Amino acid sequence: MLITLEGIDGSGKSTLYKGLTERLADLNIVFTREPGCPHIGDAVRRAISENSDPLVEAALFVADHAVHLATVIRPALIDGKIVISDRYSDSRFAYQQISLKGYHKDPKKWLTDVHKGWSITPDLTFLLVIPPKEAIRRVSGRGETEHFEQKEFLEEVQKNYLERVKEAPSRFVLIDATQTPETILDFVEKSIREKTEAK
Ligand code: TYD
Repeated sequence: MLITLEGIDGSGKSTLYKGLTERLADLNIVFTREPGCPHIGDAVRRAISENSDPLVEAALFVADHAVHLATVIRPALIDGKIVISDRYSDSRFAYQQISLKGYHKDPKKWLTDVHKGWSITPDLTFLLVIPPKEAIRRVSGRGETEHFEQKEFLEEVQKNYLERVKEAPSRFVLIDATQTPETILDFVEKSIREKTEAK
């Protein structure tokens, strides 16, 4: 079973992910993330921090995803394991649909086509939803200045996420990310236990 965590920067996704690694330690889960594959992850991070060409950045995110699938996700699923990924393909549809504007006449189509035939759709996706203003407030407290972290941009990213929900509502669980981290963690832990026990 493949479970993904998604949300805009500052939505509390990383805190949730970390909490789940502790709370679900008994379940033999493979915890993983995108971007982050050893030989592509560094290039992706460099591309983000240098605010490089959007096509280069998008291609690197896709390459990272391909390595991730080949080396982590696919083997784990074949082994019958539960996989939880901090970010996954929905991040590309949410973020690159914006950054590729002007570089491709239909970024959504490009992203759909580029994943077709080899990517794996998650069974379940938890989407943390938060007013972008609040997300910015949290992120600026952390002193991070990646170019993604601007209010208008995050508003659009979240809009794209919500469009993904409309397209596949049964896959998503929406979470009000203004709740306390503990409340969110309790809820997601319970949901994952219920889902995995039902399988
Ligand atoms: P990361 O540093 O992992 O941030 P976070 O802790 O918020 O997950 O990710 C870096 C940025 O990369 C983040 O702003 C989201 C973005 N991103 C994309 O634009 N496209 C993608 O396909 C992925 C996986 C991430």
